[in-house]
Amino acid sequence: MPLSTTMPNRSLSHHISSRRAFLSTSAVAAAHVWIPRPVKGYSAEEVAAQMSGSNGAIGISKWELDTPALCVDLDRMEQNIARMQAAAKQFGIATRPHAKTHKSADIAKKQLAAGAIGICTAKLGEAEALIAHGIERICMTTCNVSPAKIRRAMQLRKTSPHFIQAVDEEQNARALSAAAREAGVVADVMIDVAVGTRSGIPAESALALAKMVDRLPNLKLRGLLSYDGGAQHIAGFDARKQRTLENIAANARVFEDMKKAGLSTEIFSGGGTGTYNIQHLVPGFTDIQVGSYVFMDMQYLAIGGEKNQAVYDDFASSLTVVATVLNNRFPGRLTTDAGAKALTLNMPRAGVIGEPTADYNAGSDEFGVITFKGEPSRSYKIGDRLELIVPHCDPVVNLYDVMYGIRNDRVAQVLPVTARGRSQ
Ligand SMILES: Cc1ncc(COP(=O)(O)O)c(C=O)c1O
Repeated sequence: MPLSTTMPNRSLSHHISSRRAFLSTSAVAAAHVWIPRPVKGYSAEEVAAQMSGSNGAIGISKWELDTPALCVDLDRMEQNIARMQAAAKQFGIATRPHAKTHKSADIAKKQLAAGAIGICTAKLGEAEALIAHGIERICMTTCNVSPAKIRRAMQLRKTSPHFIQAVDEEQNARALSAAAREAGVVADVMIDVAVGTRSGIPAESALALAKMVDRLPNLKLRGLLSYDGGAQHIAGFDARKQRTLENIAANARVFEDMKKAGLSTEIFSGGGTGTYNIQHLVPGFTDIQVGSYVFMDMQYLAIGGEKNQAVYDDFASSLTVVATVLNNRFPGRLTTDAGAKALTLNMPRAGVIGEPTADYNAGSDEFGVITFKGEPSRSYKIGDRLELIVPHCDPVVNLYDVMYGIRNDRVAQVLPVTARGRSQ
């Protein structure tokens, strides 16, 4: 079985043993996954119409939704938000959750209501969409480098005085300041200091950039960003902690140097779901930009936590795709309607809830293929439903117009994916 032969940075045996451990946990095995009768598939419009109608409060069973359907268990998600908030409080830092994961104004509002100090976005389009839906205090963690984006960013800054954006280069800083002057604003910026090689300015050059930004007339320096993307999915808590603290040491020195130089260090932000309980050990760190914790996914479940080394269960998996069995005629396999266009990645495999021996192959565009490595828990008819934990949450959400908010297996809320497709 080609389960993990293409997975980088993780040994095959570790991945298989942690996957088995994960698949046999109650998170995957417990939920019931079948519907005993033929069902009508409700479209998003029908669900929304029913929800706003007089009997809307009754809700529709998630098993009756037209599929593939993206569902979020609201109780679990809210519990994740509360847990993260409580953990941050205990660590003496704040949360500034990343909306690149959920792209949803409704979920951002829940995070802010729980005590988050702001919301991050990766894209300018995400920031525009969320601000248009009433989310203030947006911090954009990617730099705007093209003239068109710089102009848009300054227009956004005009309407949203709390908008902050990243900068990691002198020429870009000058362009931002000039555009801010043209737009008649003073724009807030943070220096993105690299951890690794993806983005940001190398630590040794960061202080000079911060001083230069501080002198520019139409920019206001607010502090620094330091996100270590490569650390988030390191398997094993101890290895993850060691790598995180080693790699951010130079950035912590930048923070100190900026402070000594009298520059603003009001924000020292970074971290994600994999390192949420490590970042507070970095002197001066102010807040964590956690994203995936609201939903969790197969990638994160496999990395192991501080207490549970096999399964990362600090947060509950709340995001699922409900799929329908289209074909059961060939021995040992089922075909479903959820392939790559419903789940994006095929590695790691999607988890089939209640079927720990199922191998779910989403490699084909329109179809998923399940083969069983052991006895399935039941037989499946054409039209039966299955519920899947997604391989990696962020790109999956970007495929759907709405998420169905579920409580006790019934639709309680339809959440538009506010910034769906806003990748520019
Ligand atoms: C800059 C930045 N911050 C925060 C996050 C959130 O990370 P996670 O989803 O692992 O919590 C990401 C995710 O890619 C990111 O790119």
